[in-house]
Amino acid sequence: MKENCDVYGIFGNPVAHSLSPHLHNTLFGAFGINAVYAAFPVGRRSLGMAFEGMRALGIRGVNLTIPFKEEALNFIDEIPEDLDRCVGAINTVVNREGRLFGYNTDGRGFLTAAREELGFNPEGKKVLVLGAGGAARGVGSALAIAHAEALWFYNRTLSRAGGLADYLTGYFPETQIKALGSPENLPAQKIDLVVNATSCGMRAGDPSPFDFRFLEGKAAVYDLIYSPAETIFLKDARRLGFPVANGLGMLAAQAALSFELWTGRHDGVREKMLETLKACSR
Ligand code: ATR
Repeated sequence: MKENCDVYGIFGNPVAHSLSPHLHNTLFGAFGINAVYAAFPVGRRSLGMAFEGMRALGIRGVNLTIPFKEEALNFIDEIPEDLDRCVGAINTVVNREGRLFGYNTDGRGFLTAAREELGFNPEGKKVLVLGAGGAARGVGSALAIAHAEALWFYNRTLSRAGGLADYLTGYFPETQIKALGSPENLPAQKIDLVVNATSCGMRAGDPSPFDFRFLEGKAAVYDLIYSPAETIFLKDARRLGFPVANGLGMLAAQAALSFELWTGRHDGVREKMLETLKACSR
């Protein structure tokens, strides 16, 4: 790092566990970019002040993580992309001469990873999404904007899945979007992809959030969780011979999209991100 470097970072709480500083700093080094990326633990009531600081200090870009992805919408100036507007949450901010632009690279990162690792093209496909929180919202809107034919949200709390299905139907009337309170209510149709967008599986001893006996035939299976590398959910799917992928590819792809928004660099970025992540998760 030289003097007068550009500053980037992540606002979160907690944020110490984030792999983003290591990822982005490795990439700045690899591409010879004079910049540094820091983790900023922002107080839960201080996000507005953090964004004031970003403007005042000329911080060039930030990522947002738990719990700020939705609240950040109150402090930025513009969300240029349609997809990001309908998600209702952002994970990346670009400071262009004092004006703050918000983006959500999670959904596009998911689509990139699903295409690369599972050969999955959402157009005309039927997808079961487990969960109805922020992650499910990002994945669901990305699938709908990419012309999935049908989306089912199965969540432990049915009312939350119902709220998400109604919200997305308002934006994407051409996609069939339904909430399920039980996997027994899955329609007797072939489902092409099952996505775990719950946090169930992150903690030791967590059960699988889904029983694959409820599926008709085979489906590709994506788990947004990357630590542990193989949840019980993913292990079950692999044992059944389903094509599977964990969330490491999505993590790399969404980080690569943020990096591109900030630096304009694209070629080789996602691959380098993935290589860096694999090295530190070994
Ligand atoms: P995120 O922003 O990462 O999506 P979130 O908004 O807290 O986080 O959502 C977590 C999701 O995981 C929710 O769908 C949650 O289900 P509820 O809406 O019923 O809370 C789901 N989830 C968490 N723990 C779970 C468990 N043990 N079994 C099944 N689903 C679980």
